[in-house]
Amino acid sequence: MSTFQAPKGTYDLIPPDSARFLAVREAIAAPLRTSGYGYIETPGFENVELFARGVGESTDIVTKEMFTLTTKGGSELALRPEGTASVLRSALEHNLHKQGNLPVKLWYSGSYYRYERPQKGRYRHFSQVGAEAIGAQDPALDAELVILADQAYRSLGLRRFRILLNSLGDKECRPVYRAALQDFLRGLDLDEETLRRAEINPLRVLDDKRQDVQKQLTGAPLLRDYLCDGCKAYHEEVRELLTAAGVAFEDDPRLVRGLDYYTRTTFEFVHDGLGSQSAVGGGGRYDGLSEMIGGPALPSVGWALGVDRTVLALEAEGVELELPAATSVFAVPLGEEARRVLFATVSELRRGGVAADFAYGGKGLKAAMKAANRSGARYTLVAGERDLAEGVVQLKDMESGEQSPIALDAVVAELRGRLG
Ligand code: HAM
Repeated sequence: MSTFQAPKGTYDLIPPDSARFLAVREAIAAPLRTSGYGYIETPGFENVELFARGVGESTDIVTKEMFTLTTKGGSELALRPEGTASVLRSALEHNLHKQGNLPVKLWYSGSYYRYERPQKGRYRHFSQVGAEAIGAQDPALDAELVILADQAYRSLGLRRFRILLNSLGDKECRPVYRAALQDFLRGLDLDEETLRRAEINPLRVLDDKRQDVQKQLTGAPLLRDYLCDGCKAYHEEVRELLTAAGVAFEDDPRLVRGLDYYTRTTFEFVHDGLGSQSAVGGGGRYDGLSEMIGGPALPSVGWALGVDRTVLALEAEGVELELPAATSVFAVPLGEEARRVLFATVSELRRGGVAADFAYGGKGLKAAMKAANRSGARYTLVAGERDLAEGVVQLKDMESGEQSPIALDAVVAELRGRLG
């Protein structure tokens, strides 16, 4: 071990587990790629003010969890704690919304950073794949995103996840509800910090995990009963579209999210095998965010799915992903001449699209065959001086154990044929 270790709350992704991470990222992205979403990549850090304004000054993410830094030039930056504000910032900066084709649909994949108390499923550096549909208010768009996330999880073989759905209202009805909730909260026996939170961000109090607080919240007014006609009709339409698509969801009138930008549709994907960090993904509509960061009115909706937690959910369900073999052919040279010949063969196989590897380091036959086994290759090519003199190499099928000589100049075609 070296003197250094990965920082607290982080971990290294190393083979073979890293292959599962890549497969999960790919599976989440796949339905987006075929549904009109274009790939976007934004910097790992942004002006800190973007998140303060976008995610919300009073959220835990902004007040407690941001990794902030001051550059030598005096700029205040933050490692991105989430992707939505950055993606919208970028879309506005590049005028993607002015190109006459709304909604602008974008997907992304990357690392995010939150200074949280680490535990299983909760890290300071984690990975999300996300999607944002910017510039349209259409219940079908909200439904599309939920359906695509559902599709992604199902394609991975996940079954024990649930979709929680709620509406957080809009700028017309939410203030009325907010005031009613505040009135209710003021009458409870709450500690000072929670009372302060009730004044700034009363909806967050509903999300308080402490049992004594939850007990007092039993009779709290629900936003559902305060929705204006527009929000009610919108939400009903989203529900109907999901039902028609065969996507099961649960209405959760108490679902609030940890970010302030949400309006109307909000949802969370939870998995029952994950203990307290059960949210594998979440999202919703954010109709006011663009204006909050200085842009025009651009009603939008999106989600982000946590890759780390999705991998944990797969483990919890015992789902084994079918991963493509990293190596299909492993070449074992015996002697100098064979080394040159087989090295050239491996390069040719790779150029022909066959995943191939080579016994480096001048290993003897035994150690080289061990390496071939460990590589998971379906075929091994072995050649010594005598084989080369006869113009052949030995091709061993690692599954059946059968071995046969193949003419050297036919090896690549033979292997390509056998591997399909
Ligand atoms: P979020 O709910 O904060 O939403 O994060 C989305 C997902 O990221 C979570 O459900 C979880 O799986 C994963 N995640 C969050 N924090 C951590 C952590 N500390 N460790 C491991 N995984 C974590 C957002 O980030 C919004 N930007 C989603 C969105 C997109 N809303 C609209 N568009």
